[in-house]
Amino acid sequence: MMAPQLNLTDIRDQYIARVVQGKTFAEVGGLWGTVSEKVSVAKQFGATELTMIDAASMTEHQYLWQAFHDRMVSLNIDKYHCLSLDICDIQIEEIGKPYDVVHCAGVLYHHPHPMQMLVALRKITGQYLVLTSAITQEVIENEKGRYQIPPSGVMFVPALSESEREILTVYWEQFMIKERGMAVMGITQPADYNLDDFAPWWWLPTAHALRSMCEVAGFKVLDNGLTWHNNALSLLLSV
Ligand SMILES: C[S@@+](CC[C@H](N)C(=O)[O-])C[C@H]1O[C@@H](n2cnc3c(N)ncnc32)[C@H](O)[C@@H]1O
Repeated sequence: MMAPQLNLTDIRDQYIARVVQGKTFAEVGGLWGTVSEKVSVAKQFGATELTMIDAASMTEHQYLWQAFHDRMVSLNIDKYHCLSLDICDIQIEEIGKPYDVVHCAGVLYHHPHPMQMLVALRKITGQYLVLTSAITQEVIENEKGRYQIPPSGVMFVPALSESEREILTVYWEQFMIKERGMAVMGITQPADYNLDDFAPWWWLPTAHALRSMCEVAGFKVLDNGLTWHNNALSLLLSV
């Protein structure tokens, strides 16, 4: 692997820069927010083929795809593929062969079947996966009480009791509502849990549990780092 020669502040960009030169690249779940996409980062660091895969429908959520196309035009990127699919539904025949490098951030904790999602990511990854997910702290303590989970734990958000939800609401409000102006569906606001809905937060692993989940799905952890005030873990994984 080549070490980056640039001072990149985003750990996800650093990981992509380390492995993507001369490789095919796909991003899974990069549409929301538009500017968080990593297709342009992969292009900048020498990816040979670019693909965006997102569950957002090309009709109902056409504005998300349009914002992505507009951004690609603004960055002078004209060759890339787009697939509107749930990652768990992708068939290898549809994409031809696995992508050398896959990036996926902000999706795992929104999926009702996280292990199935990791297995799906493993299936489409030829060499490296750069994965980022929100995680839970092992101890969260504030004026509402103390929430504790062992390092091996994965929080199932729909199962939280009201008192646990109150502790977690105080905790997550500072990072989501105050910092990003967004609610956490299932924690700071109630969620209607349907198995085909990727908007609520479903599962929050500890950092330790997330590394283990990746290993069980068939990846080797090459590097990892905490981000977002220790509320997310980014991993550079190899197959
Ligand atoms: C919370 S946003 C994360 C956006 C960006 N990657 C980031 O980190 O800021 C989740 C994105 O993943 C997409 N998504 C959610 N579930 C998905 C799934 N099962 N398969 C593919 N894309 C999915 C959503 O449409 C959305 O664009």
